[in-house]
Formats: sequence, C-alpha cells, structure tokens
Amino acid sequence: MQLLKERILKDGIVKPGNILKVDSFLNHQMDIPLINEIGKEFKRIYADAPITKILTIEASGIGIACIAAQYFNVPVVFAKKTQSLNLDGEMYCTKIESFTHKKVYDVILSKKFLNADDHVLIIDDFLANGCALNGLIEIVHNSGAVLEGTGIVIEKGFQHGGDLLREKGIRVESLAIIDSMTDDSLTFRE
Ligand code: G4P
Ligand code: NA
Ligand code: NA
Repeated sequence: MQLLKERILKDGIVKPGNILKVDSFLNHQMDIPLINEIGKEFKRIYADAPITKILTIEASGIGIACIAAQYFNVPVVFAKKTQSLNLDGEMYCTKIESFTHKKVYDVILSKKFLNADDHVLIIDDFLANGCALNGLIEIVHNSGAVLEGTGIVIEKGFQHGGDLLREKGIRVESLAIIDSMTDDSLTFRE
C-alpha cells in the first residue's frame, strides 16, 4: 500500500533491537484518515471472503480493527491479555510469548463471541515473529470457526513469522513488508 509505505519512510523511526517506532501515526497517536484507507484496503483484499467477525488483540490492534470493521459490517472481538488465568471453561485460552517485551501472556477470549459458524479475519498492527498471530490462530482453530485470513499493517519480513504462516497455507496479507531496516535505510519487499 503506497500511502502507508510513504508514511513509514517519512515518519517511522528505527530503534535499537530492530524496532520500528510508528507512534506518530499508528501505535500511539493515530492518523484516522490513514487508518481509514488501511481499513478500505483490507476490505478490497478480502472483498470475496464471507467474513462474519474481525478478531484482534489488545491494545494496538483494536482501533485498526474497528475502522476496518465498518467496511465489512461485522463485529470486532478482541483477545485480552491477562496475568491471572482462571480456567473456567467459558474462555478460549492460549499463551503468547512476546520477544519484544520478554514476557509470556495468557490470552483469553469468551466462547460466547466466537464459534463454528464464524468466518474470521484476524487484523493486527505488527507481525514480527508471529507469536501474537499464532496465538490468535490457535483460538480460531479451537473455536471451530473458519479462518479466512489475516490482515497486517506492517510486517517485519526479516523476522519470518509471516513466511512461516504462509508456508502452512494461511493467508497473510500485509500492507507493507519490511525486508531490512537500519538507522538510515529501509527497504520494502516488492
Ligand atoms: P510477534 O507477536 O510478531 O512475535 O512479535 P513480538 O512478540 O516480538 O511483539 C510484541 C509486541 O510488539 C506486539 O505488540 C507487536 O505488535 C509489537 N511489535 C513487534 N515488533 C514491533 C516493532 O518493530 N515496532 C512496533 N511499534 N511494535 C512492534 P503487543 O505488545 O502485543 O501489544 P500492543 O502494542 O498491541 O499493546
Ligand atoms: Na498488536
Ligand atoms: Na503493538
């Protein structure tokens, strides 16, 4: 998505540890006209898929998913991160390890809001090693729903989470894939 790539080049800041800061338009301050174009682009890509629900994870995915959902006319459900897990059978549960934050989270989603009748589009802001996305995919599989695919705003292609999922046959659509980045250069996959 050209508009997004231009914005990353203009306002993205590469931090030590291969972190791309996009706080001024995506992760902290949010540029709503840009995110609106992102939502339209996800709809264009998934126009033929019978999506009934958009799934994301708190926190940064939620705003993006909500704007996209207006084009799909479906609800958004977001997985919640928690430290204290009570396994009461009413929740889908999985563990997500964050390499960026060096932490393991329990992630939960109420069984009321995802079931075998659903056709799911997973949306998230970043895809790196794929830990978050793998956790969400596991929840979809446990619910019996059909995973139509995933929509990612920025994929860090050099961390291979996306390529591993594509090799497994999962549809991963990323609006910008970064193949390399340094302090003063950033290249996108064609
Ligand atoms: P992974 O899920 O793809 O394996 O990535 P990882 O565990 O390393 O990422 C942990 C968190 O950091 C995720 O957000 C992810 O979206 C985000 N992230 C990963 N790489 C980058 C990056 O280069 N720049 C930015 N800005 N974020 C990155 P989170 O902690 O789960 O939560 P939240 O920010 O959505 O609340
Ligand atoms: Na996220
Ligand atoms: Na994030």
